[in-house]
Amino acid sequence: MKFDIKNLTLDEKIELLSGRNFWMLKNANGKLPDIFLADGPHGLRMMDITTNQTKIATAMPTLSVLANTWNRDLAYLDATTIADECLIEGADVLLAPGVNIKRTPLCGRNFEYFSEDPYLAGELAKSFINGVQDKGIGTSLKHLCANNREYDRFNQSSDLDERTLREIYLPAFEIALEAKPWTVMCSYNPINGIWTSENKWILQDVLRDEFGFDGLIVSDWHAVHNSWRAVKAGINLEMPYRPESVEEIKKAYLNGWITEEEIDARVQKVLEFMEKCVTCKKVSTTTKEQRHEIAVEIAREGIVLLKNQDDILPLKGGKIMTCGPFVNAPQYGGGGSALVISSYVPKPLNEELSARLGDKASVTVSNFGLTTDKNFLTNIRRGVIDAYNADTVVICVGNNDVVERETYDRPSLKLSQNQEDMIINIASANPNVVVVLNVGSAVDMSAWLHLVKGVVLLGFAGEGGQEALADILTGKICPSGKLSETYPLTLEDTPCKDIRGNGFYEEYKEGVFVGYRWYEKTNSKVAFPFGHGLSYAKFDYSDMEIEKITETDYNVSFNITNNSKQTAKEIAQIYVKDVFAMVPRPQKELKGFVKVELLAGESKRVSVKLNARSFAYYSIPLKKWYVENGDFEILVGASSQDIRLTKKITISLPENEQYTWLL
Ligand code: GLC
Repeated sequence: MKFDIKNLTLDEKIELLSGRNFWMLKNANGKLPDIFLADGPHGLRMMDITTNQTKIATAMPTLSVLANTWNRDLAYLDATTIADECLIEGADVLLAPGVNIKRTPLCGRNFEYFSEDPYLAGELAKSFINGVQDKGIGTSLKHLCANNREYDRFNQSSDLDERTLREIYLPAFEIALEAKPWTVMCSYNPINGIWTSENKWILQDVLRDEFGFDGLIVSDWHAVHNSWRAVKAGINLEMPYRPESVEEIKKAYLNGWITEEEIDARVQKVLEFMEKCVTCKKVSTTTKEQRHEIAVEIAREGIVLLKNQDDILPLKGGKIMTCGPFVNAPQYGGGGSALVISSYVPKPLNEELSARLGDKASVTVSNFGLTTDKNFLTNIRRGVIDAYNADTVVICVGNNDVVERETYDRPSLKLSQNQEDMIINIASANPNVVVVLNVGSAVDMSAWLHLVKGVVLLGFAGEGGQEALADILTGKICPSGKLSETYPLTLEDTPCKDIRGNGFYEEYKEGVFVGYRWYEKTNSKVAFPFGHGLSYAKFDYSDMEIEKITETDYNVSFNITNNSKQTAKEIAQIYVKDVFAMVPRPQKELKGFVKVELLAGESKRVSVKLNARSFAYYSIPLKKWYVENGDFEILVGASSQDIRLTKKITISLPENEQYTWLL
C-alpha cells in the first residue's frame, strides 16, 4: 500500500506537516489513515479521546532502572511488552526511548534516560527500539540533542563544542539509529544558539546525511517556533497542532523562502511513515498478568545493592521492622509525560517479606513517617522505639513524582530533611539498618550513609518494584544490577555543581568529562562509582586474552567464575584507555559490556569485540573519528573502579592514516 504524493494538493501537503491535535496526524481529508502517537518509555501513556482520560496500562520500570540491568535482552523484552499494549490500545508509535546523557544528577527527567555514558545508553536504546518495532509499532528516538536539564528547557541554549557533541551527546543516537527508529524527535533547547527544530546542521547534515537516518523527524511538543524555518531545516512533522503552522508555511512558499520540492521532500517522509504504521503491525502475545510478571522480572535485575556491610543482606529473619514513606507503595515512575497510569496495587513491603521469610521472621510496619504528605514525619518517638526493639530495620525513602519530574530539575541532591532525620534517628537506636532508595537519579547520602549497613537502590521500578524488592531483600533472587550513573558524594563534586545557565545559554565547560569521566579526571571520591553493584555471590575474573583481528579490531575474552553457592548474574565492563594522546581524553571509556548467568561454582568464557570507534576520538581538524597510533590499555572491570584484568596493546596504523607523531 503506497500513499502517492501526487494524489495530494499543495494545501493538503502543507497541512500534513503539522499535527491534527495533540496526538494525531492529519489525514488529507480522509485520503490517508488516522495515525496515533503516544508516550512513553515506561509503558503506554495514551489519551482516550472519548473520555479525555489517560488509559490504564502496565507501569514498566523506568529506563534508569532498565539501564541498571545492563541487559540488552531485557531491554528488548521490556519494549515488546509495552508494544503489546500499543497494539491492544491502537497506538501507532511509542514516543520513546530517550537517550539524553545524564550530565547533571539534578535533571528532573534523569529517571527517563539511561545513563551518563553514551555507549551504554545507545546499546540499550537500540535493543529497546528493536523490541518495539519488531511488533510493528514505531518508536521515537529522543530528544535530539543536548537536552540535559529541565530548567528553562524551551529557551536556554546548550553551548558546547563539536568534539563534546560528537563524543558524548550524539553517540547514543548514532548507536541507537542502527535499529532504524521510525522517527527521531528533536529537542526543545537551542544548540549553540539555534533551536534544534530549526537546526539544519543537526537535522540534515548530521542526522540524515552523516548518520543515514531516513525516517521521520518529529518536533518535541511545542518545540517549533517558526514552522516554515523548521520544515526547511528538516522537520517533517510539527507536534502538536498549532493554528499558525499552515499559514506560516504558505506565506514562506508564496515569498519563495521554501519551494514545493522542499515541501514534497518533507511530506514524502510522512507518507512513508504512514505506510509503515498501516502495514507492519503484528499482534499482542501477552496477557496483562504476563506483562506484570515481566515488569517484576526487569525490576529484579535493575535493583542495585550498593552497600552490604556485615552481610546484613539478605535478611536472615528475626524481628524486622519496615518503615518510611514509600514502604507500602513504592514510587513507580517519575512525573510528566512518561508517567504511566497503572491500576496495580502493590502489597506493603512487610507482607511481601513475610510471604518469603515465613516463620523465620516477624515482619512489622511502623507507622513512623507514614503521613499523607510523604514529606512530613509524625510520631518519631514511636519509630525510634520500634526500631530499638527490632533486629533489623528496613527504611524505604526516596522522591515522589513531584520531586523528580519533567519540566523541573531538583534543587538539591539530598532527600527531604524529614527523611534524612528518619534515617539518622533510627540508626541511633539500631545499628542494623537497610535503606531502600526509591529515587530516579543520584542522591547525596553523605548525612547518613556511614550510619547504615545496607543500601539498596530500587529506583522508580514500575508496578512490580515491591515484589522485586522483596525477592532481593530476602535472597530469593541474587542482586545483579549495576549503576548506570555515578552516585557522587555531593552536588559540589559534580561537573555542573548548582550552575544552571543564565537563561540565554548554559556552557558545557566540562567538555567530554561527564559522569565517571569527570570524577576520574578530577580524582574525586564518589559515594558509588559508575558500574558499581554488589551481589550475594562472589565472582572471579581470569585468563584475559586479546586476539588481534586488524590494527583496530580486537576480540577481548576472559573467564568469569561464580565462587558462591547460588546462581547469580554478573555484568563485566570493558573500558579502553588511550595512554598518551594529543588531545585531553578521559582516563578510560566504556566500550563493551556483557551480562552472564552462572550457576554455583560455574565458569564461563565471555568475549567482547572492539573496533576502531573503541579507540578513536573525534578530531576537529580532521572532521572525523581518528585513531592515534600508540599504546592503549584494555581494562575489564566489575565496575569502573573495580578493575579485575588489564592488558596493553599498541596500535600502529600506516603513516598515510596518521597525522601526528607521538614520539
Ligand atoms: C513532552 C516530552 C516528550 C513527549 C512529548 C509528548 O513534552 O518532552 O518526551 O514525548 O512531549 O508528550
